[in-house]
Amino acid sequence: MTTIDEWAARWAAGQTGFHEAAPNELLLRHGAALLAAAGSIALPRRARVLVPLCGKAHDLLWLARRDVDVLGVEGVEQACRAFFEDHGATPSSTLLGAGHVFNAVGADPALAAVSLLCADFFTLGASTAIASPLAPLSARFDAAYDRAALVAIPPARREAYVDVLGALLGPGAPLLLVSFEYDQSRVDGPPWSLSANQLRQLFASSFELSHLETRAVPVRNARLATAGVSAMSESCYLLRRRGPRV
Ligand SMILES: C[S@@+](CC[C@H](N)C(=O)[O-])C[C@H]1O[C@@H](n2cnc3c(N)ncnc32)[C@H](O)[C@@H]1O
Repeated sequence: MTTIDEWAARWAAGQTGFHEAAPNELLLRHGAALLAAAGSIALPRRARVLVPLCGKAHDLLWLARRDVDVLGVEGVEQACRAFFEDHGATPSSTLLGAGHVFNAVGADPALAAVSLLCADFFTLGASTAIASPLAPLSARFDAAYDRAALVAIPPARREAYVDVLGALLGPGAPLLLVSFEYDQSRVDGPPWSLSANQLRQLFASSFELSHLETRAVPVRNARLATAGVSAMSESCYLLRRRGPRV
């Protein structure tokens, strides 16, 4: 089990090797498809995009620069604050039920379109979403983006993660998901390796899934490299929440 406290300890110790210095390359290549699908669902209002387990990823601002409202969910307050501070802004927070929502305005006007909810993702769900913290944005989101989020969840909790995601997304909503695969027999996660078959099984009942691409990536995680993991691949999928639009 990897708890929020353990993640907070990683953030405090600067063990954030998962953080990329620029928006994720697969988001750059496939984000337009996500946003086009989200936009057609949301019309005539702005689309609302959920980013679970968001860290302080540059991906949040990349999305917000494309005329969508973004809600990141991140369990560690240091990470929520760091996202805004890294972009030269001082965040303020509001307590809204399931957690504090951090916002800020800064030199980049797109920052105002990013809200970060500091909460354990597993405490969210359809009913809590309507009652409190997500209400300012929406009870149901038009799209979601998961990079290194599902792979950060211990395998025993994967189904619960997919359930929460499914409850927060409106029917037809797209999900762009970036995951990793490597030889799990050498070392335990996080990140945990996730194969295409495992993904298909997890999402089969509530999402349609299409595989966009898989590419080899360097093993940057020192713990994995030390354990002898010499090859790693990154895959990108576009999923769509099943069900009629309600
Ligand atoms: C591997 S990092 C990925 C961060 C981000 N998606 C990125 O691409 O940089 C996983 C993040 O999820 C956060 N996290 C882990 N478990 C969580 C949970 N149950 N609820 C909310 N955030 C969580 C961690 O603090 C960490 O910042």
